[in-house]
Amino acid sequence: MDLSAQLDAIETEATAAIAAAASEQDARALHAKYKSELATAMKAMGKLPPGERPAMGQRANKAKDALEKAFEGYLGGLREAAEAADLARVVDVTLPARPAPRGHLHLLTQVRLEAVQIFSELGFVVADGPQIETDWHTFEALAIPRDHPARDMQDTFYLSDEIVLRTHTSPVQVRTMLTQAPPIRIVAPGHVYRRDDDPTHSPMFTQIEGLAVDEGISFADLKGVLIHFVSRFFQKDLTVRLRPSYFPFVEPGAEVDMQCSFCGGSGCRLCKGTGWVEIGGAGVVDPDVFAHCKIDSEKYTGFAFGMGLERMAMLRHGVNDIKFYYEGDVRFLEQF
Ligand code: PHE
Repeated sequence: MDLSAQLDAIETEATAAIAAAASEQDARALHAKYKSELATAMKAMGKLPPGERPAMGQRANKAKDALEKAFEGYLGGLREAAEAADLARVVDVTLPARPAPRGHLHLLTQVRLEAVQIFSELGFVVADGPQIETDWHTFEALAIPRDHPARDMQDTFYLSDEIVLRTHTSPVQVRTMLTQAPPIRIVAPGHVYRRDDDPTHSPMFTQIEGLAVDEGISFADLKGVLIHFVSRFFQKDLTVRLRPSYFPFVEPGAEVDMQCSFCGGSGCRLCKGTGWVEIGGAGVVDPDVFAHCKIDSEKYTGFAFGMGLERMAMLRHGVNDIKFYYEGDVRFLEQF
């Protein structure tokens, strides 16, 4: 076989073999093989008569180019196939994402907002006051002077002789009456502090205070508001009992009892067999308090109440230890 025919044969065989290669590895091996076959063939070039050499050199270069082209073509085909496979990969962008765990309002916050909502429907607006309060707003103005035995009802954290952590939300009554003229209708939810600690008492807890001052307000209005609140909050027709009691800032004063929401009044463990549970204190504003707040007690009367929100939530949801509210254990919190 002369050199030209040999080059033809290598070229034909190489391009066909590379095009049919089974893998990149095979193609590389074939490329190397034919390259070396071409090199061997080229060595024969030196034996040709000088006049034939240029034409044969061109022929050899053509074969080399064909080999490189076949090899590049094969690699290019592989790249295109990989790109096409990449593009053909289907991602369903409409698939819903995995849900991120999401919190919700704390039970006490829910109860507070609900209580405010119910009272706001009756025309009460929210008022606020500081948790670090003066002795005067907390006690004196509410007709509980220093050394009055009624101070013992509320075991107090004193920060100094004049400053206390408020033991009830009632100082907000005073702050409101000092800054607003009647008619007044406010509710004041917020934290209060007492030196108390047992399964139903915590050194910090939450109350909601109510105050209405206007001409002609009576004890009957108080009772009506409380009955409405209890039946809305518990979504049951539960009755309310006002049991005579003593708070220096109201006269007459009462403990507010509601019909037990668990047994409906027949007596159970929760109500200790009595059918009633205490939810707060209330009464008609004492003229002494009006005097401290510069409100004319000849013209105006009012009622006030204070209820524990933890107690409300306990009764409605069967929470049996006040600590659960504050521990932040999600197993408890998730339930509400
Ligand atoms: N402040 C009283 C308490 O915390 C409750 C109360 C409020 C009583 C308003 C009467 C009127 O015990």
